[in-house]
Amino acid sequence: MGKVVVVTGANSGIGLALCQRLLAEDESIHLCLACRNLQKAEAARASLLTAHPDAHLSTVRLDVSSLDSVLGAARDLKLRFQRLDFLYLNAGVMPNPKLNTKALLSSFFSRDLFHVVSTADGLLTQEDGITADGLQEVFATNVFGHFVLIRELEPLLCRPESPSRLVWTSSNNARRSNFSLADVQHSRGREPYSSSKYVTDLLSVALNRNLNAQGLYSSVTCPGIVLTNLTYGILPPFIWTVLMPILWLLRFFVNSYTLTPFNGAEALVWLFQQAPESVNPLTKYHSSTSGLGRNYVTPRKMDVEGEAAEELYQQLLDLERCLRAQRHDRGPD
Ligand SMILES: NC(=O)c1ccc[n+]([C@@H]2O[C@H](COP(=O)([O-])OP(=O)(O)OC[C@H]3O[C@@H](n4cnc5c(N)ncnc54)[C@H](OP(=O)(O)O)[C@@H]3O)[C@@H](O)[C@H]2O)c1
Repeated sequence: MGKVVVVTGANSGIGLALCQRLLAEDESIHLCLACRNLQKAEAARASLLTAHPDAHLSTVRLDVSSLDSVLGAARDLKLRFQRLDFLYLNAGVMPNPKLNTKALLSSFFSRDLFHVVSTADGLLTQEDGITADGLQEVFATNVFGHFVLIRELEPLLCRPESPSRLVWTSSNNARRSNFSLADVQHSRGREPYSSSKYVTDLLSVALNRNLNAQGLYSSVTCPGIVLTNLTYGILPPFIWTVLMPILWLLRFFVNSYTLTPFNGAEALVWLFQQAPESVNPLTKYHSSTSGLGRNYVTPRKMDVEGEAAEELYQQLLDLERCLRAQRHDRGPD
């Protein structure tokens, strides 16, 4: 059997494009689409089968914002597979985004223009929610559910004789200034998305420190700015269409305007082709598209420190212990 690859959030956007590109790369893989909505997962599976009728495709129900769902999906995966070669941690949300148009307009007259338009630094706030487990929704979805999934799947992932890989979909919007070890869930701030993506970057560093010896390697990617359901939550599709000529022009100056899910998946596919030892654990791999539409990968050093990564890791382990104890006390459902 070929490599076993699981992709979370595989039914749309970058996750679906990643699946299409991985099958074009290697049709022998077994690809499992891990999605919260099984109908959407089946529709994605059917569309992939149209182009690759002999592909080995399966689906698993996974809502990363729910501990019960994560534990159920992990149980299911452990029954089906002996090993996992790649786990793409891609599902993510940005609920109720608000664009600060004043800040955007004033950036046009500042020296930071290219930084602001390529990272959305200071432009986006979100209204977070609370999950049924009592966690901040953005943190639970973008990070913590994935963390528990990795912990549960360790028997399939940690095999020193044959390394396995984790690949996170982070963001240019991951900023140290929006993160605090005193509030890792970002319950007190207004930029939970940026914080959650910074947590992703730190967590990947910690996972490498703790699990490389057991054969598990973690990498971080940024897909660039891609038009998907997530970005359509910031501005409606017709506005993006109107802005398209400007976005195409911006590409000549800023390589992060990848725009299509296919281009956005570039770094995620590139990592599939690399040997784990050749990938730098402190680097974020960015999907990039040139003004003439050429796709390539840009490595950039992450703004992270080993000590903070380790402290975050311990906090996530504590939180996991605490939620498992609460679940145990609650008894069987
Ligand atoms: N688009 C960009 O410009 C951009 C830039 C940087 C990073 N990213 C990251 O790229 C990743 C993919 O996003 P996208 O842009 O492709 O947007 P998208 O099309 O909205 O895809 C997000 C995927 O995550 C799934 N998802 C959301 N909440 C989930 C949950 N609780 N459990 C399981 N799956 C869940 C969605 O499922 P449903 O269809 O059921 O909602 C969907 O499949 C995200 O991590 C995002 O933060 C995107």
